[in-house]
Amino acid sequence: MNDVFELRSADAAGRIGELRVPRSDTIVETPALMPVINPHLQTISPARLETEFGAEICITNGYIISQSDYREEALSKGLHEFLDFSGAIMTDSGAFQLAEYGDIDATSADILDFQYRIGADIATPIDIPTPPEASHERAADELATTQSRLESVSDVDTGAMLVNAPVQGGVYTDLRERAARDARETGLDLHPVGAVVPLMNDYRYGEMVDVVAAAKRGLGAASPVHLFGAGHPMTFALAVALGCDLFDSAAYALYARDDRYLTVRGTERLPELDYLPCECPVCVAHTPDDLRAMPDDERETRLAEHNLYVSFGELRRIKQAIRRGDLLELVETRARGHPAMVDGYRALLDHTDRLERQDPASKDAFFYLSAESAQRPEVRRHHERLARLSVEGDVLLTEGDINTAYDASWRVVPPFGPFPRALSETYPLTAEVPERLDDAAYEQAAEGIRRLVETNPDAEFTLAHRSWPERALGALPERVTVRPLESMDEYEERGEGES
Ligand code: GUN
Ligand code: ZN
Repeated sequence: MNDVFELRSADAAGRIGELRVPRSDTIVETPALMPVINPHLQTISPARLETEFGAEICITNGYIISQSDYREEALSKGLHEFLDFSGAIMTDSGAFQLAEYGDIDATSADILDFQYRIGADIATPIDIPTPPEASHERAADELATTQSRLESVSDVDTGAMLVNAPVQGGVYTDLRERAARDARETGLDLHPVGAVVPLMNDYRYGEMVDVVAAAKRGLGAASPVHLFGAGHPMTFALAVALGCDLFDSAAYALYARDDRYLTVRGTERLPELDYLPCECPVCVAHTPDDLRAMPDDERETRLAEHNLYVSFGELRRIKQAIRRGDLLELVETRARGHPAMVDGYRALLDHTDRLERQDPASKDAFFYLSAESAQRPEVRRHHERLARLSVEGDVLLTEGDINTAYDASWRVVPPFGPFPRALSETYPLTAEVPERLDDAAYEQAAEGIRRLVETNPDAEFTLAHRSWPERALGALPERVTVRPLESMDEYEERGEGES
């Protein structure tokens, strides 16, 4: 177990956790949003981030401070006093700036040491963010450099400061998984997944999910994971469901400068808004015309406030969903905001095998909301259970009532398939399912039947169904006799059978 991070609740691969930050003697509840503080340009002061928005942790850039006029002030006062922020402070290393502007004269050790001397609570070595277009060879080379820098962190005095071990590897999942295993081996404290910003900017959410899932496979569940540069609230639920614990947002301020208005469904542009679709104090007190009429800096501040309200609000919603056990329903709802998010959600469900291990066995309710719901981990888990259930004789699988003309009369409910009636009141078989089901639900139910039939070669099976589509019926094993439910006669249905 990681000794600074404790898990409290879980749903899918998402979790509520506690990150203990010894240097500031603080505890950060995760998932957490770290607003990015640009010392040159404080749209919202760090003190306001803490008191008005509830930020328990923020992030600033150690490299930029080291190169700026603030260098001496930060060194003499320490970051907490310099920024006026009493929560935990993470510093980045400038790796992103370096990737853009080429070489610099400082080593990773120098920059780490600077972060230590200004009093950072969590510091970052200089990793290399490999862009998505890089070849496998280049990604592997750059990863080797990142890894050697992580291994030499132990040469620097870092005291009680926690240190990030970023996971790179470009878009290559084999490299990401290996990078993650190696990063974990270093014994460093947190694991940011890096270089996903270009994927997110291009709406490549499916690839982003594959890359993060690969990193999670290498890291295991115990490590706290930060999704570097992910500040858009539309992606939070998806990323949390994958097992990300920390987010940093420069977006709240950057977008505000450009009149961009964040929502959980995507980004709006203030010049195009007729209404403000939000309940935050800014949006309740103003109309779009009010905001447009403001001087630039005031408008920027109001938009940044709105952007923060939305971002922190989404994180609270996500935490409540984890507690209630309906995080995947929230992810599914968010996925409907953009077709690229649907890809992200489908990619998440492709990693169901790994999601399963963390998912609590019992939750409030399973809502079947779309064809993707048929691929949820609970459905897979039920099928695995069916492959272990034994049943004998003439077995009726029916959407109708008990029928005593058979040796056993099990219920069958798409997308799960069959189950003994005694399980009817247990999760997820208490699922709420729409009347007008899609084919995916029936096909998964057929898969459930297939598993049960395969495990019980000596039993005889009859499926009495209401209106299953041909494709699902065609997927049933030959040993299943199919009968429309209405063809089951009264005599049988009342259970006064021949026996
Ligand atoms: N900020 C956004 N992405 C990255 C990354 O990959 N590495 C670092 N150090 N900072 C980032
Ligand atoms: Zn608002």
